[in-house]
Amino acid sequence: MSVPSPSRLPVAVLLSGTGRTLQNLLQSIHRNNLSIDVRLVISSHADVRGIDVAREHGIGTQVFLPKDYGSTDDYSDAVFEACRGSRVELVVMAGFIRYVKIPDDFQLRVINIHPSLIPAFCGKGFYGSRVHQAAIEYGVKLSGCTVHFVDNEYDHGPIIAQRAVPVEPDDSADTLAARVFQAECQLYPAVIQAIAEGRVTVTGRCVRVTPPLTE
Ligand code: GRF
Repeated sequence: MSVPSPSRLPVAVLLSGTGRTLQNLLQSIHRNNLSIDVRLVISSHADVRGIDVAREHGIGTQVFLPKDYGSTDDYSDAVFEACRGSRVELVVMAGFIRYVKIPDDFQLRVINIHPSLIPAFCGKGFYGSRVHQAAIEYGVKLSGCTVHFVDNEYDHGPIIAQRAVPVEPDDSADTLAARVFQAECQLYPAVIQAIAEGRVTVTGRCVRVTPPLTE
């Protein structure tokens, strides 16, 4: 487990499933490529592997089941109140499939990674293998991943960075997903590190990373 230091950006990670993305971020921290302190992992589902990954690293976890809340607003309030309680400055969605409404004090402080080149194959219902199946059926020759700020529309907030990967003629949703995930494992830690270093500025929908991310 890494020792939190005051210079590390305090982060909450939101997940719903396997925790592969969380695991990748924790590996990046371990390799000293990512200066964040993951203070809290929030899951929308009980008994998922992502919770185990957090616990194995000594990270506190909280489960918020949507069925326990009367409305999306109540659910979102609970999630962000927990983030405030842990004094996090950035919320990182990592395979989190629930819609949450972003409160004013978390505008431009919530990010997500989506496994396509937004604005293609995104929006409500586009998650997991559905995204890759749709890309293959459409016949695109490039897919990839997109890191973006989260606003109150699905997969819509300002785009921070994208990486493209080829779609091969014989790809299945699984083989394409694996290729895209490799790109995600590079891109997400790099973007989060840029945010931690104060290198990301936003003007309207346009996001600038200075100096730019390297390949
Ligand atoms: C990735 O495809 C990512 O693009 C999306 O969720 C998937 C990772 O989820 N946001 P997980 O870490 O395997 O649970």
